[in-house]
Amino acid sequence: MLTRRKLFAGAAGLIALETLGGLRVLRAASAQTADPTAPWRAAPAATHADWRVRAFGWAVLAPNPHNRQPWEVVLAADGSAILRCAPDRLLPVTDPKSRQITIGLGCFAELFVLAAADMGVGVDVVPFPAGQTGAPTAGPVARFVRRTGAAARDPLFAHVLARRSEKRPFDAERPVPEASFAAIAKAAGAGFFGTSEPARVATLRDISWRAWVVELETQAAHMESVNLMRLGMAEVAANPDGISIYGPNLEPLVQNGVLSRPAFATPGSQAHQVMIERYRTALTTATAGFVWTTSDGDMPGDAFAAGRQWMRLALAAVGEGTVLHPVSQVLQEYPEMNATYAEIHRVLGVAAPRRIQMLARIGYLPAGANASPPTPRWPVESRIMAG
Ligand SMILES: Cc1cc2nc3c(=O)[nH]c(=O)nc-3n(C[C@H](O)[C@H](O)[C@H](O)COP(=O)(O)O)c2cc1C
Repeated sequence: MLTRRKLFAGAAGLIALETLGGLRVLRAASAQTADPTAPWRAAPAATHADWRVRAFGWAVLAPNPHNRQPWEVVLAADGSAILRCAPDRLLPVTDPKSRQITIGLGCFAELFVLAAADMGVGVDVVPFPAGQTGAPTAGPVARFVRRTGAAARDPLFAHVLARRSEKRPFDAERPVPEASFAAIAKAAGAGFFGTSEPARVATLRDISWRAWVVELETQAAHMESVNLMRLGMAEVAANPDGISIYGPNLEPLVQNGVLSRPAFATPGSQAHQVMIERYRTALTTATAGFVWTTSDGDMPGDAFAAGRQWMRLALAAVGEGTVLHPVSQVLQEYPEMNATYAEIHRVLGVAAPRRIQMLARIGYLPAGANASPPTPRWPVESRIMAG
């Protein structure tokens, strides 16, 4: 039988489930199962004759909410490409306006542009070429058109393979220096903010944690996450998206049912408790800095632009040796979150029609901690659709 101690050994695995140990097992297992992180190696190795396919191979590595990977692309006969939002990859409860999904699509677009530039190809991005009034599934999200003339490489591109969303506790004693915020601001442009100021950080930790609890206690919102959990290697390999919980320490806990969707859904279960403790530490103590971005409006085009900005910001953060963890609960638009949403906008002095688009913890992993390995991705080939 599993003791509590063993479970917490497992919980350490949960926290570090994306550790290098996990990767070793993945490789060992890859004879039987496809490696769900293979797209991270496929992008730099790609030799496809069509530059768009090679660049999209990088774009699928973009950060995106709940790792839903909502992108679909169509390669047009005229050499352009169309980005669409997959209708079965939305988050209807926690992201009812598909704002976060659209941010993820913006990240994808920016990574496509950076990858193309690295090949010397310039790209113009036309957001919402058929208009932006409806849901992102109502029409094309963007059109990519090749520009004449060569493009300049962007140094941010060098950081793509090292970028992670680090969901673990950070070094609470190591604030991000102003010089790093300035460097990130340069890459991110207008609407970027960052702080290491202790009182402000404490306020943001408190709001973020309370918002996280609101989500946990809002049944439909929490179940949206639970239903997107992929538990154990077999489920992750079959569906390399969503919230992947796997790794050598976790496999036995999945097999014996300690880590199961019903357990994660049940307050008081060990899995539920471990999940809370993991975020409680990260959000209430082990954070010494925050970054956030704002936009002038709250239209899909604003979210798409915020995604392009977030991609650049996240790569610049890697360049500064920092790690990021988006904490989006407080920015979500469902009734139970209204009060905390209003509170953070008040605290950060952002008044409608302006809004906060992204909020993230920023800092450094504790000394000696390894960076997490990459999260799973669907291969680029699976995201290229017939027109
Ligand atoms: C718009 C957006 C919102 C996100 N919100 C959260 C969040 O609230 N909590 C979290 O742990 N990660 C969040 N993430 C990070 C994603 O979970 C992460 O990008 C995804 O799982 C892929 O992992 P990677 O970024 O390490 O490649 C968010 C990412 C984006 C783009």
